[in-house]
Amino acid sequence: PHITFIDFEGTQRTVDANVGDTLMEAATSNDIPGIDADCGGACACATCHVYIDSNWQDEVGAAEDLETEMLEVAEEVKSNSRLSCQVVVTDSMDGLVVTTPESQY
Ligand code: FES
Repeated sequence: PHITFIDFEGTQRTVDANVGDTLMEAATSNDIPGIDADCGGACACATCHVYIDSNWQDEVGAAEDLETEMLEVAEEVKSNSRLSCQVVVTDSMDGLVVTTPESQY
């Protein structure tokens, strides 16, 4: 599925993600800037914070408890915030758009 990452300046980059990878892995393996992922996907750093496009929030779903706790230490958290290492790519996410926060550049 194709996933588009938009950086804080509005630059769009689209990657062809693998089903079963996390959004974080799809980004880091394609050199997408703005996702640091310091903890390597353990839901322990909150530097893989992204904003899910409003049209996609239902498909992507909400954060679970551990992720919600980690989001409390992220900067500029919004109602559409997720940690990208906790979002697993599915076929039905083709066309997904997420934005990366300025604090991660
Ligand atoms: Fe650390 Fe996602 S990579 S919380």
